[in-house]
Amino acid sequence: MTSEASPIPAVHAREAQPSAHDGAVRAMFDRIAPTYDLLNHLMSGGIDVAWRKKAIEQLAVAPSGAILDLCAGTMDLTALLARRFPNERLVASDFAAQMLDRGRKKAPNAEVVVADAMALPFADGEFSSVICGFGMRNLSDTRKGALEACRVLRPGGVFVTLEFFKPTQLATRAFHAAYAKVVLPTVGGLISGDRDAYAYLAKSMDGFLNRREYEQTLAGAGFVDVRGLDLTLGVASIVTAVVPR
Ligand SMILES: C[S@@+](CC[C@H](N)C(=O)[O-])C[C@H]1O[C@@H](n2cnc3c(N)ncnc32)[C@H](O)[C@@H]1O
Repeated sequence: MTSEASPIPAVHAREAQPSAHDGAVRAMFDRIAPTYDLLNHLMSGGIDVAWRKKAIEQLAVAPSGAILDLCAGTMDLTALLARRFPNERLVASDFAAQMLDRGRKKAPNAEVVVADAMALPFADGEFSSVICGFGMRNLSDTRKGALEACRVLRPGGVFVTLEFFKPTQLATRAFHAAYAKVVLPTVGGLISGDRDAYAYLAKSMDGFLNRREYEQTLAGAGFVDVRGLDLTLGVASIVTAVVPR
């Protein structure tokens, strides 16, 4: 599919928007799935692996039980979770089937479910942990995604978000200006052949909430003990939140 056939929407407020946004985002991730892993590791210089491990560490405070990797993409987090929690039920969910297909072999025992993060096909309280890596900023309605994460978690369950929030520190804003807006679309465009997709990914960081605003959104969705942790000068951050008992 060409970018003309599926225009990538501008990223503005993170509230309910027409579902055209979600359709275009899904089509874009399906399109870039074949080169996603290569570009991910190349453009982060491999530091994403350390960020992912740090995010998984935050699940240590969660009760034992099923784990959901939300917006799992090509399942890098799922693979690390499978190694860290070999005896737990593990579910990888994403609405882009092509992304999940690329990941299946990384965690062969994980259940793979194609689903929208804002309308999950899971029962209330089905999971003890939900983790979402670089997915929340893509949702057309952040609050709806937070409410769903809260709903599928049991009381005491833990939600961990690893994300590129809108930068607030000067150094990080400069990094974003140089890297996300220039390097990301150029290198991403060259390797994937889809400059628009990588321009969208850069814009999606800028148009998203900052970490504090996201923490407030989680608190508003019913989570307690909401805590944030900046990684690498706030280039990426982790937010941990708990469902009240
Ligand atoms: C940047 S990728 C991150 C993938 C993976 N979690 C990682 O850490 O590399 C974002 C993923 O979120 C998924 N996504 C975006 N919006 C979604 C939605 N509404 N429901 C489910 N998945 C969604 C995309 O399909 C994509 O695979």
